[in-house]
Amino acid sequence: MLDPEKYLILASIMSADMMRLGDELDQVMQSGADMLHLDIMDHHYVPNLTFGPKLCADIKNYNSRWKMDVHLMVQPVDQLILSFAAAGAHRISIHPEATLHLDRSLQLIQQSGCKAGLVLNPATTLDCLSFCAHRLDFVMVMTVNPGFGGQQLIPQMIEKIARINSLYPDLPISVDGGVCAENMSDLAIAGATQFVAGSAIFNRQDCVKNILNMRQSLSNIPS
Ligand code: DX5
Ligand code: ZN
Repeated sequence: MLDPEKYLILASIMSADMMRLGDELDQVMQSGADMLHLDIMDHHYVPNLTFGPKLCADIKNYNSRWKMDVHLMVQPVDQLILSFAAAGAHRISIHPEATLHLDRSLQLIQQSGCKAGLVLNPATTLDCLSFCAHRLDFVMVMTVNPGFGGQQLIPQMIEKIARINSLYPDLPISVDGGVCAENMSDLAIAGATQFVAGSAIFNRQDCVKNILNMRQSLSNIPS
């Protein structure tokens, strides 16, 4: 049965029309998205460039009730953790390869008042979870290679999600990349409870209908 507490839908704003950003964010949040997902890219850790803390602060000023999930694809991370926390981020997630001192960076996120997430690229093993799972509020499985929206989900990641779920049953699992109404039930059955989606929300015509379809595809997952 649909359990709105259990599943989160996060709208990745990189796929929004930047010329109509306020309107598009109003629409997705009114349609029942739980959080906004901000992909921060530095053209160094990933081959693309997006936005900085000012956009996060502007969104916070626009509507302070909206929660922002900041996904840092930058190297190094520590200074930007502080900047995005100050700009109003609710959660901040980082990649283990992007920081020299992972434990310290995770602590920094939490000391800054944010929830901390660790993001695993498709080929990253689960080893790095062994000694930092206790610091995590969630783990995010990249179901595409980071850097661009609109890619196809890598099917082998479903097994990875299931493996994390069996090793760390209390750790919430987010999925990011190529997520759409058609694959969400497979991801949820494997153990994902938080779904980041960009193009499936913004690039198909009707945002309201897209989010409704996503909720619908989660409504029959056995708990
Ligand atoms: C990829 C980003 C994703 C991306 C998702 O590096 O982390 O959050 O915006 O976009 P879609 O849903 O289009 O794959
Ligand atoms: Zn992301």
